[in-house]
Amino acid sequence: MLPEIITPIPGPQSLALAARLAKHECQSVTFMSPDFPIFWEKAQGCNIWDVDGNRFLDFTSAFGVTGLGHSPPNVLAALKNQADSLIHGMGDVHPTELKVALCEKISEITFERWQAGSAKTLLGNTGFEAVEAALKTSLLATGKAGIITFDHAYHGLGYGTLAAGAMERFRLPFADQLADFGHSLPFPDCHCDAGDPQQACSDTCQQQLSSLDAQLRATIAESPIGAILIEPIQGRGGKVVPPKAFLPMLRRICDETGTLLIFDEILTGLNRCGTLFACDASATIPDLICLGKSLASGLPLSACVGSAELMDRAWPASEGEAIHTTTHLGNPPACAMALAALDLHSDPKLAEQVRQRSDLLRQIITAIDHPRLGRIRGRGLLLGVEILTNNGQPDRDATSGFVVHSLKKGLITLADSPAGNVLSLVPPFDISEEEMRYFADTLQEYLTSLPGS
Ligand SMILES: Cc1ncc(COP(=O)(O)O)c(C=O)c1O
Repeated sequence: MLPEIITPIPGPQSLALAARLAKHECQSVTFMSPDFPIFWEKAQGCNIWDVDGNRFLDFTSAFGVTGLGHSPPNVLAALKNQADSLIHGMGDVHPTELKVALCEKISEITFERWQAGSAKTLLGNTGFEAVEAALKTSLLATGKAGIITFDHAYHGLGYGTLAAGAMERFRLPFADQLADFGHSLPFPDCHCDAGDPQQACSDTCQQQLSSLDAQLRATIAESPIGAILIEPIQGRGGKVVPPKAFLPMLRRICDETGTLLIFDEILTGLNRCGTLFACDASATIPDLICLGKSLASGLPLSACVGSAELMDRAWPASEGEAIHTTTHLGNPPACAMALAALDLHSDPKLAEQVRQRSDLLRQIITAIDHPRLGRIRGRGLLLGVEILTNNGQPDRDATSGFVVHSLKKGLITLADSPAGNVLSLVPPFDISEEEMRYFADTLQEYLTSLPGS
């Protein structure tokens, strides 16, 4: 449904709640300004209602969690059903049947489907925990502490993930408490990828790859590197798609040097990029894959998944106390929701739907044809569009200005990339043409209203 705005934004109830929150929440968490935030009350499908009764259209899937929409009916039914019987368990001591079924299902959609044996899973709660479980697995399996990551990567904000490699603004305030095992290399940006998988890459892409091939091999030769950790498409880094041959090249280098390949598919996974996992587009199989965000379609749940062979080689059998676990591991409602969500994700029609809506959204944004719109980046419904100054430079202020402006028009949007000038287009998979056109019209009006436009 299109937005319906009935009060000034933020409305009076949101403003009152902001004043209360500012008194008692750590001030580093919620950004507060006279224009921001609104307080959410309920959500359904692509829509969010705030405490003032305004209806918004969600172009963020709430950080990429609600690809299936907010509260999809079968997931909601699974949650309600589970809430009646068992809300909290003792995941690593006395497990539930749900945990059995979920680990089986994750194996079925990953390493069994890739015909690379079966999988074993370490469940967690949030995304960074899954990545940190992968870092631990890498050390245990290879005996080598080093990790190669990529500039502008985002793997979450735990100390392990910050140390492995993170944007400076997240890492620097805590640098004195971080171990030194990360090696960051440039992430290649495929300028010729307009979303067409048949299109061959340009010479510029090939040059980036040869240079990176050399840098990767040199880093592995010089330091004890256990794994390469990468987002197959950079998300918060600005929806950056690498050249098509990049992931297969990483696979080759890892095979030749005995290095593990870890795909962080916390954002890109589960059909977000138009294939079940982003790595499926280049048929590249990782040694470990990290899942989170949309896994349970709304409750915190994450997974570090590896082949049974690797996981058994890396991790010792429990001798009564798990050496890696959390209190809420295998939380029953989260597992029940994940099973219901994965049932939907397993239908190949969903990936097809994402690809079609992605093509349509690209066409609609391209048709805006405004000089301050730059490249459209990304794949599937993980897209971004650059906002530029009149001189063609990244325009951070105009981009964040749109986030505030569009909120008043009933759109929930976010911006990212190192220059802060990429508008993020990450809607639920069911986004309609009318809703996309509303977004595009709002963007066009905004761009036209900018000084000098
Ligand atoms: C690719 C990727 N990895 C890891 C994370 C961290 O997940 P969480 O915030 O649940 O810890 C994120 C979050 O945005 C992400 O996009």
